[in-house]
Amino acid sequence: MAKQLINISVKVQKADIFTGAGDLLAVGVFEDMPIHSLIKQLDKQLGGDIEKVQKLGDFEAKAGSTCLLYSAGKIKIARILLVGLGKRKDLKTETVRQAAAMVASKAVDLKAKTVLLSLHNDIPGSVKLNTQQLGQILAESACFGAYRYDEFITDKKSKRPTSLTAIIIDSDSKKILQLRKGVAAGIITGQAQNFARTIANRPTNVINPVTLAAEARKLAQGISGLRCTILDEKQLKAKKMGGILAVGQGSATPSRLIVLQYTPPGASKNAPAIGLVGKAVTFDSGGISLKPGAGMHEMKFDKSGGIAVLGAMQAIAHLKPKTKVYGLIPSAENMPGTGSYRPGDIVTTYSGKTVEIQNTDAEGRMILCDAIAHAEKLGCKTIVDIATLTGACVVALGQKRAGLMGNNDKLIEQLKSASNKTGERVWPLPCDDEFVEEMKSKIADLKNVGGKWGGACTAAAFLSQFVEKAKWAHVDMAGVGVWGADKNDAPGSIGFGVRLLTAFVLSR
Ligand code: BES
Ligand code: MG
Ligand code: ZN
Repeated sequence: MAKQLINISVKVQKADIFTGAGDLLAVGVFEDMPIHSLIKQLDKQLGGDIEKVQKLGDFEAKAGSTCLLYSAGKIKIARILLVGLGKRKDLKTETVRQAAAMVASKAVDLKAKTVLLSLHNDIPGSVKLNTQQLGQILAESACFGAYRYDEFITDKKSKRPTSLTAIIIDSDSKKILQLRKGVAAGIITGQAQNFARTIANRPTNVINPVTLAAEARKLAQGISGLRCTILDEKQLKAKKMGGILAVGQGSATPSRLIVLQYTPPGASKNAPAIGLVGKAVTFDSGGISLKPGAGMHEMKFDKSGGIAVLGAMQAIAHLKPKTKVYGLIPSAENMPGTGSYRPGDIVTTYSGKTVEIQNTDAEGRMILCDAIAHAEKLGCKTIVDIATLTGACVVALGQKRAGLMGNNDKLIEQLKSASNKTGERVWPLPCDDEFVEEMKSKIADLKNVGGKWGGACTAAAFLSQFVEKAKWAHVDMAGVGVWGADKNDAPGSIGFGVRLLTAFVLSR
């Protein structure tokens, strides 16, 4: 690859906004608290510049707004970024996340190497975050905002820094310790998420089932407690994983089933495990049921569910929860060709169930059904799958929320609570018997497409038929995985699912 991505680190320092040293100082300002004592002091030192921009109406401290000031030697740091947090009583966790990400992003744009963050003062109780959680959120968001995907850009003029250090400053020694604890965790999830974004952003001529498997193996080699087994096409054939094989058979690159295994220190052999299953279709052309040309390039992101699992396994293996976790990533390239599976084919899946193919573009469920059945064979009592599964889910929920379905209310609640903690939003959808009915075939056990309506629900209902006893939930991230990026985010993958899955596993 052409070059290294930005190396991001996050630290906590005992300092205030006058004593810290760096290239940029970011200070949070509430819309309704212009008299905030620290800001007042700062303004005094700057000779009233803050009051001036406020009077001019150039900076009202609305959430999402910023104002850059130059200190011209009046204080130690040359650049000051006022960061609007909106009205104090309206502050949401998400506002803090967005503010920290925006600061890190501006720091990269300004080619700063060190940015000081003073964003977490006077956070109202209504936000329900303790200092440690604040530290985690600031670290995660700083990692998120500083991310750029430019490994293929060869233009030497676009000189961005090779590294960024974000320093959270606080003058209260008691808070420093808590902040540091949070940052330690936040940097793990933040970096895992950025790792996921890079792999997801890489095009299909770089990441295919075989090279993705190599990335997973490399990941496991670098972390203790994490193991990687890869089933190649020979082993997939021997195990009769007909779904994964069918989807990949039209491609020059063969399919793989990647199995990552995290074992906690001192785990007993028969401890119940959690299975995370992610769809990694490294390119979805639709196959013989070819997709229209417009936007087809975005189907390189059809591996995003699998990569969310890859990123989550990285974070989990570093954070070392007490539960055993399997990360299963079925990977195939869905291509038209003389060897492709066809509409009308009947495929025997790993479970033994047969599926009549009515549309080769409904391929995600065909690889997931084998991996879900395999997860249960491995001993997973709880299974969560995540996939860019249906356009219908995007139609239903838009680009900010993933669909959440499953067979167990408690599990759904646990995922919702992980979602609330991490800001990766999910929304419940049904997938009960009515939808299962639609997936029955007249000539096989099931067919791979339902009727015209409720496509996200019928897809999930199909998957439910491959779960025997396990508690199972399904996250359809088609909307957030491919086009989810906000206008402020770096173009490409946002690494959705890494924080959600990690928080879910850690909460158990
Ligand atoms: N990968 C697509 C789903 C998708 C669509 C992801 C848009 C991201 C954005 C999936 O494999 C697919 O093609 N689904 C079909 C299913 C249909 C044929 C039943 C769809 O949604 O159209
Ligand atoms: Mg498809
Ligand atoms: Zn697909």
